[in-house]
Amino acid sequence: MAKLKIVKIGDEVLRTRCRPVEKITPRTLQLLDDMVETMREADGVGLAAPQVGILRRIVVIEVNEGEVIELINPKIVAFAGEQEGMEGCLSLPGQWGIVKRPMHVTVRALNRYGEEVEYRGSELLARCFCHELDHLDGKLYCDVADRMLTKAEVEELRG
Ligand code: NI
Repeated sequence: MAKLKIVKIGDEVLRTRCRPVEKITPRTLQLLDDMVETMREADGVGLAAPQVGILRRIVVIEVNEGEVIELINPKIVAFAGEQEGMEGCLSLPGQWGIVKRPMHVTVRALNRYGEEVEYRGSELLARCFCHELDHLDGKLYCDVADRMLTKAEVEELRG
């Protein structure tokens, strides 16, 4: 496994729509492994392939430690409710915003074995699904945030 470099805001790669994975190859599996390692090293709960410079529809998420969710060609198939909360992104270090997201989200995708899988998430996991899938369409949370927090607000909220 290898730690990959995380692309930061300002790079066009974060604004480009990703292509679907047509065939899961050993390279795809290597990328998934490397993305998980990179996410963990950066203390993130989610990472999308464009954030490591790869324009493919691939996402990894680890909201609960040890429970890695790998999504290939993911789609949101249902959502319900609403939540408002703080959101950040490894590609926008040090920044936070207030973003409204659905409270419950159902995602369908392929896993690393090419099998169709479905995940239902609420609260942070639902937020994470929305945030990471947006990355695949070149969208960042700052585009949809109600507002971005000031440095002082971030310090206060994070204690
Ligand atoms: Ni992000």
